Amino acid sequence: MTYTVAVIGTGAEPEDPGRDGYAMAYHHAAGYENTDGCDLVACADIIFKNAQAFAEAFGLDDDNVFEDYEAMLQAIEPDIVSICVPPAVHDDITIDCIRSGVVEAIHCEKPMADTYGGAKLMTQEADRYGVQLTFNHQRRFSDAVRTAKKLLDGGEIGDLQRVEFSAPVGIFDYGSHSFDLCNYFNDETPGKWVLGQIDYSTENILFGTHNENQAIVHWKYENGVHGIAASDSSGTGGPASAFACHNRLIGTKGVIEVGPQSDDENEVLPPLRIRQDGGDWASVETEDGLHGWEFIDRAIAENVRCLREDETPELCAENALNATELIFATWESSRCRGRVDLPLTIEDNPLRAMLDSGALTPSTGGD
Ligand SMILES: NC(=O)c1ccc[n+]([C@@H]2O[C@H](COP(=O)([O-])OP(=O)(O)OC[C@H]3O[C@@H](n4cnc5c(N)ncnc54)[C@H](O)[C@@H]3O)[C@@H](O)[C@H]2O)c1
Repeated sequence: MTYTVAVIGTGAEPEDPGRDGYAMAYHHAAGYENTDGCDLVACADIIFKNAQAFAEAFGLDDDNVFEDYEAMLQAIEPDIVSICVPPAVHDDITIDCIRSGVVEAIHCEKPMADTYGGAKLMTQEADRYGVQLTFNHQRRFSDAVRTAKKLLDGGEIGDLQRVEFSAPVGIFDYGSHSFDLCNYFNDETPGKWVLGQIDYSTENILFGTHNENQAIVHWKYENGVHGIAASDSSGTGGPASAFACHNRLIGTKGVIEVGPQSDDENEVLPPLRIRQDGGDWASVETEDGLHGWEFIDRAIAENVRCLREDETPELCAENALNATELIFATWESSRCRGRVDLPLTIEDNPLRAMLDSGALTPSTGGD
């Protein structure tokens, strides 16, 4: 069977990707083109010229280009929808697609939603309507990450005791991937508690949503493994650089580093390395590093395989919700000035609420 595919939120041409727009839809579309049994047939964007440019790039019929995604769902009845709009509207659009009753699978961009309640409702509704809902935490499909997990599962560093990460631009936008990777390494174990603090003194808006400037977070999983992480949107020298590594796995007999960074800017470290029994670091060969648009091809191929074979994809909403809980629990810990025990019971976005209440007053830059 061939699945028909539609995209919501095409973005403009991705020639100048940056914090205001990566046009992720183009990468999703390439993923469907590279996956057998998928036929990209339609798109929708509230900026019609964006949709038209996308349709031209991927050879879509003029009749299948829409400004209104609900009209598209009705007219096209696509089997699979990719949602590449800004985070603030992920939940509404995803839930509309689920409730339309015509869609079998949805692949939505990360972060899940800009409120914890929104993220929970998306997960709940997908489950209720039997729709396969996945989120684009594509970094799981890097060979460096996959190989790190194989080394861990093979006992090369003993039992996992702690996961660490540093995120360059906030625990919501970038940290969504980072927490997700920690959960992947720790076998999707739910969190037990989170203790975090943030600084938000200069406005930092990514894809339309506020992100803190710095965060430091300590969390514990139900299986006793600890997590420690920092974010730093100010460049080098902040708390994230103190970790000197993208993701670190600490075991009873050794350490694995994914994306280690050296103090010496001239030194290039491998994407993956391991240190066993207190010995020297050894590089581990991998096919790729931590970043690459081809990871989206792999994520989409796996989602489609799972849809076809009625399996749960590893990018499923439940796994994404585990990562999302750690994000919002960090902001909640900062709001309530204490440890937050999980499951998280809030519905809102604590960072947004602290802005609305005047508890946080970031400057808008431009002196
Ligand atoms: N997975 C990753 O590594 C990665 C990288 C960058 C961005 N992202 C995420 O991808 C998502 C989209 O980011 P982007 O950079 O592609 O944005 P973009 O601005 O390039 O594209 C978003 C498009 O959505 C459209 N849109 C907005 N509201 C809409 C609506 N109600 N109906 C239809 N279209 C609507 C906009 O007009 C725009 O064309 C964000 O959640 C972002 O965080 C993920």
